[in-house]
This record gives sequence, C-alpha cells and structure tokens, in this order.
Amino acid sequence: MERREFIQTTVAVTSGMLLLKPKSAFGYEANSAVRHGLLGCGNRGTHVATSFSQNTVAQVVALADLFPNQLEDGHAHFNQVNAALGRQPIDPKLTFHGPHAFEQLAASPDVDLIQISTPPFFHVEHLAAAVASGKHVYCEKPMGIDVKQAKQALEIAKQVKPTQSVDVGFQCRNAPPIAAIAEKIKAGALGKIATISSYYYAPASKEKVFPGAGKDEYRLRNWLWDRALSGDILVEQNIHIIDLCNWILGARPLKATATGGRSVLTHAGDCWDNYQVDYLYPGGVRVSFASKQFGDYNMFEAGLRLFGSDGAASIPYGGPMEIVGAQPWAWTESMNTQASSGKFAANGAFGDNLAFADRDKERTFIDSIVNGPVHNQIASGVETAMSCMMGRMAGLRGHEVTWEELEAHGETYKLGMDMAQFG
Ligand SMILES: NC(=O)c1ccc[n+]([C@@H]2O[C@H](COP(=O)([O-])OP(=O)(O)OC[C@H]3O[C@@H](n4cnc5c(N)ncnc54)[C@H](O)[C@@H]3O)[C@@H](O)[C@H]2O)c1
Repeated sequence: MERREFIQTTVAVTSGMLLLKPKSAFGYEANSAVRHGLLGCGNRGTHVATSFSQNTVAQVVALADLFPNQLEDGHAHFNQVNAALGRQPIDPKLTFHGPHAFEQLAASPDVDLIQISTPPFFHVEHLAAAVASGKHVYCEKPMGIDVKQAKQALEIAKQVKPTQSVDVGFQCRNAPPIAAIAEKIKAGALGKIATISSYYYAPASKEKVFPGAGKDEYRLRNWLWDRALSGDILVEQNIHIIDLCNWILGARPLKATATGGRSVLTHAGDCWDNYQVDYLYPGGVRVSFASKQFGDYNMFEAGLRLFGSDGAASIPYGGPMEIVGAQPWAWTESMNTQASSGKFAANGAFGDNLAFADRDKERTFIDSIVNGPVHNQIASGVETAMSCMMGRMAGLRGHEVTWEELEAHGETYKLGMDMAQFG
C-alpha cells in the first residue's frame, strides 16, 4: 500500500514563521504561537518539547525543573532550538527550579500549555496544578503510580474546562502503521479475537551519578529503579503495550494473575526486572504479557500479536507489521526483520514503525488546542495505568486480582522523603 497520509493539521511551521488559521474558536490569533512550558527538563521532556517546536506551532517559552543543573541544560538547549527556528531565547524570568517550580510555572500568565515530563510519582500532583491553572496539558504516562493517585486523577479530570485540552503521552496509538492496523482490527479483520501474546523486552536502564548527591537525590536521579517513584517497569515502561491492548480491544482487563521478580539486577532500587502477566478481558479474550528490563546485549523487542478466528496480526515496534488470514494486509514500509530494527531508545524516540509516533501525537494535540475539539484523555490514561497496577499487584501478592479488588484494596506508595530539602 501507499504511504499513509500523515496527519495534516491547519498549523504548519516553515522556516521559523508560524502559520495558523486566521482566527480559531479557541482564541489563538493568526501568527501566534502556543506558548509552551516544559516541566521536567530530562531525557523524554527535552525530546518531546523539541519535537513539538519542530513539528507544531508550540514554542518553548518557559522551563521548570527540581534541579538547577537540569534547568540550565534545558535553557541552553531550548535557546539553541529557538534560535534555529528564528524564535526568541527563553526569558530567564520564565525559568523555575526547586520543589515549587511546578506551581510557579502553573501560575505564569505567559504560558498556554504545560508539558509534564517529571518522574511518574509526581504526575498527578503536577497535573492538579496544571489543570487548575486553566492551561492546556500534555502529561506523560503513567497517570498515577497507585490506585490512590489514579482516583485523584479521575477527580482532576472532572475539573478540566471545556476550553482546555489534556493529552496523556501514549504516542504509540498515533504511529501511522499502528493507527492503520488498529483500524483494520477494530473493523473485524481478525474475526473473533481469542488471544493476544504481548511482550516488552528492554535492556537495563543506566545509572545516573551526580557527585555529592545524598540518598534522596540519588533516588530521584535514578527514579527508574524505584517502585514508588516509577510504579515499577510494568506501570512505567510496559504500559505502552497494555495501552495498545486496551485500545484495540476497546476494554480493560477484568482480572489478572502474574509472576515476576528481580532475577538479575543487583543495583539500588526495588523494581522487578521481569514480569509475566495473564489478563482476562471481556468476551473471554486472554492476553499474556511478558517483559524484562535488564542486560545490555543490544536486543530490544516490544509489541503484540493478536490471534482471531479469521486471521492474526503482528504489531511490533520494529519489524513486519501485518495481518495474515482472510483479510491479508501489510505496512510495506516496515523494516524486514525485527532484529534489524531492534534498537532501544530511553527517550521514546524509536525508529521504524514508531518513527512518526511523537510527531503525529503532538500535531493532533496542538490541532485540538488551535482548532478543537479539545481532548480530555485523563480517564483513559487512568484506565491503562490501573490495568498495569492490576498486573503488578497480582505479581507482588502472588494471587489473582480482579478490577474490583484493585479499586477497593489497591496498593498505595509513599514518597519517603521531604521535597523541601531541594528548596
Ligand atoms: N512516552 C514515552 O515513550 C516515554 C519515554 C521515556 C520516558 N517517558 C516518561 O517521561 C517522564 C520523564 O522521564 P525521563 O526519562 O525524561 O526522566 P529524566 O530523569 O531524564 O527527567 C525527569 C526530569 O524531571 C525532573 N524532576 C524530578 N522530580 C521533579 C519534581 N518534583 N519537580 C520538577 N522536576 C522534577 C528531573 O530533575 C529531570 O530533569 C517519565 O514519566 C517517564 O515515564 C515516556
């Protein structure tokens, strides 16, 4: 098939000039940018905000981070990005650091959109401030690390104003080949779906060392290793695949059994390095999910395979994306083998089938702000996060967990440090 037409919005960026529809229902005048404030100037935040700048009319005008060094690096980086696009440098008055940086960013009248790219433990607290400010919000997954936070997020969802757009960072749904195959599956190309086999095999994450960092700062810098800060690998990383299962099936799991453990890793932290989860979805659909996050031997694979009465579908991050059976189909631009494209990207900037995921996610979001209708993805983000929490709880407790049990007795986690020390 021909290259699928990528999402076209009425916004475009050409050699630094911002082009918008003359006047939009949402108050953005011709030639005005969506003023973008980044909260969390780390790996993912910097990548996504740069991509927003390069692919949409969002323009980074403000930055916030807990740590001054991260803020300084972000400031230098985005001044370069802005200069390359013929835009103004960031006013130092719009850079904030410390434990109240998120509140200062939310209070700024010079920002239209807040991007939350902080460690997962803080997402819901930061979402509350951003939504209360009336600004548009792009919040990274997961939407909460425990059931208590997930329920708070659902309350925040009710506060979103009719003019506010809120997205959650599940960019895989917007990857053109995934959007195309999902459309076919949802239209019935596989017949009755009976079972899904899904996986996320990632390498170990790297230690971040900062001379002089105390115990709490070390935890925060290496939040990926810490269950309270990250939610564990199932809730933090593997969530992209569980999200695709929920989205394609149009449902959340009813119950889960799971095993897993910390079989290889010996460094600081308490996250497991492997999970095996069996979910039951409505209609008797069985989903098996397996993951690992350890080792450094140049191997990365993530995806899902769906098996139905009339056909089977393969949806890998890299490698052939296809349907076999009664309604055969293939994305001809996928790489030929999974091995040739199996490169991991800690900032989420994958190639092959995910090459345009971030770009199209960002364009769709900005289009919702400029032209409407607005999005409110919080509840759907919560549903996926809780689906992962269910698997984590089943693994940690060693017995089956139903959705009702999760909602009533789900685990809660404490930060275990005083953030005021970073003031
Ligand atoms: N969608 C994806 O594909 C994808 C990929 C990678 C990461 N992520 C998500 O993005 C988020 C950030 O991940 P990352 O890899 O960039 O981490 P990172 O550690 O590189 O960056 C996090 C940044 O947040 C700052 N920070 C920490 N606590 C803060 C606080 N309380 N207030 C303000 N700033 C604070 C840190 O100093 C750091 O600069 C996580 O939620 C992660 O799950 C998503």
